[in-house]
Amino acid sequence: MRLSDEQRAMMEGARGNGAAKAMEILVALGDIFEAEELLPVRSVQVAGVSYGNLGDEGLAYLEELAVDGRAVVPATLNPAGMDLRSPERMGLDPRFVEKQRRVIAAYGRLGIAAACTCTPYLAGNMPAPADTLAWSESSAVTYANSVMGARTNREGGPSALAAALTGYTPAYGLHLDDARAPTRRFVVEAQPAGPRDWGLLGMLVGQGSDGEVALVEVASQTYAPSTGPGVESLKAFCAALPTYGGAPMFHLAGVTPEATRYGVPESTQTITSADLQRARERESGLQGAPELVCLGCPHATLAELRDLAELLRGGQVVVDTWICTSRPVKALADELGLTETIERSGALVLCDTCFVVAPLKGRYSRLVTNSAKGIYYARGHGGMDVALLTAADCIQVALIGRMP
Ligand code: F3S
Repeated sequence: MRLSDEQRAMMEGARGNGAAKAMEILVALGDIFEAEELLPVRSVQVAGVSYGNLGDEGLAYLEELAVDGRAVVPATLNPAGMDLRSPERMGLDPRFVEKQRRVIAAYGRLGIAAACTCTPYLAGNMPAPADTLAWSESSAVTYANSVMGARTNREGGPSALAAALTGYTPAYGLHLDDARAPTRRFVVEAQPAGPRDWGLLGMLVGQGSDGEVALVEVASQTYAPSTGPGVESLKAFCAALPTYGGAPMFHLAGVTPEATRYGVPESTQTITSADLQRARERESGLQGAPELVCLGCPHATLAELRDLAELLRGGQVVVDTWICTSRPVKALADELGLTETIERSGALVLCDTCFVVAPLKGRYSRLVTNSAKGIYYARGHGGMDVALLTAADCIQVALIGRMP
């Protein structure tokens, strides 16, 4: 890989040990993927924030980097293992809380903003079309590529952090035109209604696309003003698609800025109403009483919080209920009285975290959510029995304590 004088000097330690280590990671990555050069990045999203995933080794690595490493481009963090301001509401082990605080402090010294959200684009880290990024967090990566038309590979935590400390990422994969061209076409005859269905659609497209970039044509979408899927459904689709095997980039006709730039792939698969209905039924069962209801995966928008407040107004939940969002969105919900309405019901509005990265293993065994991505991880890593329902049905479960 070609390096400029500045990049070579950084690698030799001219900007300190942290930047030199970061350059080593980027050069190794570039060599593996045969990148010709490093590209300057506009922003970074760093995953690998929960102490539950990092452990002591990861924490020690961050603290060492933070001795002299500093981010040189705007960079934000993915969710942590707890709500940073009120971890006590989550019933966590104090040792976990202390270590998680050290992780956040190390990232702070590195100059990375503790936005702690998987929707950085709703929290101040908002790319423009064609921006070069180095983002980790598959749902945000997919959203950036496919909805906003920016360009990023699905970075791991270390390579994203390396990009933050140097301002560069290797030019390979989804940074190049060829890799962004769709090679599978999905014609969706089903009519997805809301985020739960769009998550299921992401699951079906992901499972059928074998890691290739998909062109998705949804017959029922006309894309007249306000009739498209909306942010809530798009983020659910972007979260599910790579989780179930798809590439972190798709072209959705009428939404993706580049959707008309490439040819239409020959290989076509149809997703019918019966396919979607079968998926709804397959994922909606639970063996026994629900123990935890979770919404806000990816983190809830203001519109979602408004709808949830209406569904909970005047009621009392009888099942632990978590609604996860980003801190800037919660601040708006606070001002509008939505947080108060939600929390008067006994449900919690949590920031900085989610049920997948919080250390919940062993505490709950039956979960209800509206997130297709969420059920995958709760089942796989958390070993939980899970049910995927609409947000309204999730709230119904929270209020009555059993499946609707
Ligand atoms: Fe976000 Fe956690 Fe879901 S990071 S996408 S809320 S699994």
